[in-house]
Amino acid sequence: MNLNESRICFIGAGNMASCIIGGLIKKDFPAQQIIASAPSEKNLKSLKDTLNISVNSNNQQAVSEADIIVLSVKPQVLQSACEEISGSLTHKPLIISIAAGISIESIDLWLGGNLPIIRCMPNTPSQVLKGASGLIANTQVTDSQKQATSSLFSSIGIVEWVKDEAQMHAVTALSGSGPAYIFLVIEAMEAAAVKQGLSPETARKLAAQTAAGAAEMVLKSDIEPAQLKLNVMSPGGTTERAIQTFESLGLVSVFDQAINAATKRSIEMSAQLKG
Ligand SMILES: NC(=O)c1ccc[n+]([C@@H]2O[C@H](COP(=O)([O-])OP(=O)(O)OC[C@H]3O[C@@H](n4cnc5c(N)ncnc54)[C@H](OP(=O)(O)O)[C@@H]3O)[C@@H](O)[C@H]2O)c1
Repeated sequence: MNLNESRICFIGAGNMASCIIGGLIKKDFPAQQIIASAPSEKNLKSLKDTLNISVNSNNQQAVSEADIIVLSVKPQVLQSACEEISGSLTHKPLIISIAAGISIESIDLWLGGNLPIIRCMPNTPSQVLKGASGLIANTQVTDSQKQATSSLFSSIGIVEWVKDEAQMHAVTALSGSGPAYIFLVIEAMEAAAVKQGLSPETARKLAAQTAAGAAEMVLKSDIEPAQLKLNVMSPGGTTERAIQTFESLGLVSVFDQAINAATKRSIEMSAQLKG
């Protein structure tokens, strides 16, 4: 499978589908090979007008010629959307679901079985093409379909394949929910700096750019984050004093407990959504 020659159908045309379609178009993927389907006109019209893709409010017609189908509806409506298109998949397209918490087994059951299915967990920074997506495939998926999917999600950020589906709970707790943790850190840094006399605007910009710059250093270097942290900490200096304060207040344990709680919640929610 070659992504650039594939016809891609999005079932659901909301926030996430728009991000992915926008990313694909920015990376010069041909708009005429994309179709999106949703019940109402509101999102479809803006996608058609701004990105020039095809749209259809009939899911069965939309999937009929697709090589790749991206299921991008809310988890609560995924079963009915799958059952609706299940009779229109005799051409065996690649199915990619971005719905949080729904297992490949449930999707396979709802679609009638025996299809190549990939589950992907993207996150909201995909909107600025800085997303982080975790993926897992079933055994029907070929290497070339995996490569095409990596290329698809690389258009909105980075892509990491996990080894087994149970790890998707940790992906959800880390990168799925993670943008909110970083927003919390930026919010807290901003509030603290305002107390020290900076204006909210200056504090927010400096905090956000510091988070972005530090993250980029981790992604672009082979140096461990722990060492990068030490590199900023001169003995007796300001950073050392702040890090000692974080450590004495148990910040590392707080992150551990928060990610553990989010992972457990993902497991609970998946059990409730099981087919
Ligand atoms: N947002 C995130 O940060 C994020 C991160 C990771 C994963 N996800 C997953 O991405 C999926 C989509 O989330 P979202 O934030 O993009 O949701 P959203 O903005 O609410 O979009 C949902 C879309 O589904 C359409 N829809 C509803 N019922 C449908 C049906 N039966 N057939 C076809 N389309 C239907 C809606 O149609 P209308 O346009 O007519 O309303 C809308 O276009 C969810 O499963 C979520 O778990 C989201």
